[in-house]
Amino acid sequence: MRAFATGVCVASTYRDTPDGRRHDAVTVNSLGSISLDPPLVSLSFRLGSAFLDDLLATGRWAVSILPASARDTARRLAGPRETRAPHVADLPARPGDRTGALVLAGAGWLECALRDRFDLGDHALVVGDVLATGPDGRPPTLVFLHGRYHAVDDPGSIGVDLSTPGHWGEGI
Ligand SMILES: Cc1cc2nc3c(=O)[nH]c(=O)nc-3n(C[C@H](O)[C@H](O)[C@H](O)COP(=O)(O)O)c2cc1C
Repeated sequence: MRAFATGVCVASTYRDTPDGRRHDAVTVNSLGSISLDPPLVSLSFRLGSAFLDDLLATGRWAVSILPASARDTARRLAGPRETRAPHVADLPARPGDRTGALVLAGAGWLECALRDRFDLGDHALVVGDVLATGPDGRPPTLVFLHGRYHAVDDPGSIGVDLSTPGHWGEGI
């Protein structure tokens, strides 16, 4: 899987506690596109993940697809909760309108509600209904490959027409 290039995302959720709302955000690359009608996406988390516990309790989360300029954010949010907590507080982000989960500035984003959860081996696959999406420009996307972050500086000469729903389009 190290040879499989993925985008890099920040998943965010929160937990309401007696002391108020505690946001959390974590670096993930397991985002999957599951269905177009209805729109469904998935994420996979290690069983026992503190982030997963909050996501399942709240049933709401957001995914921000990181631009190439956000590698430091990806690094900071890839550790355990204690180390990422101060960085979560400093994120350039706002609560999403539909979920309240943090949406990062400068990223494409999706807001999701929990539809289903499958325990598979040592991970849980969570599937969410997509409640809202937003683009924020089209900056180059951060890519994870062979254990390193990369910027794709060649936007590519092959375009894909995604204007027709459900059609992947052909390279032109
Ligand atoms: C590029 C990258 C992608 C990652 N993707 C995932 C992921 O899809 N699922 C996951 O559980 N952890 C993933 N991690 C690890 C998390 O960032 C984080 O270390 C872990 O969720 C922390 O566990 P906790 O929720 O118990 O604190 C990834 C880390 C990196 C650097």
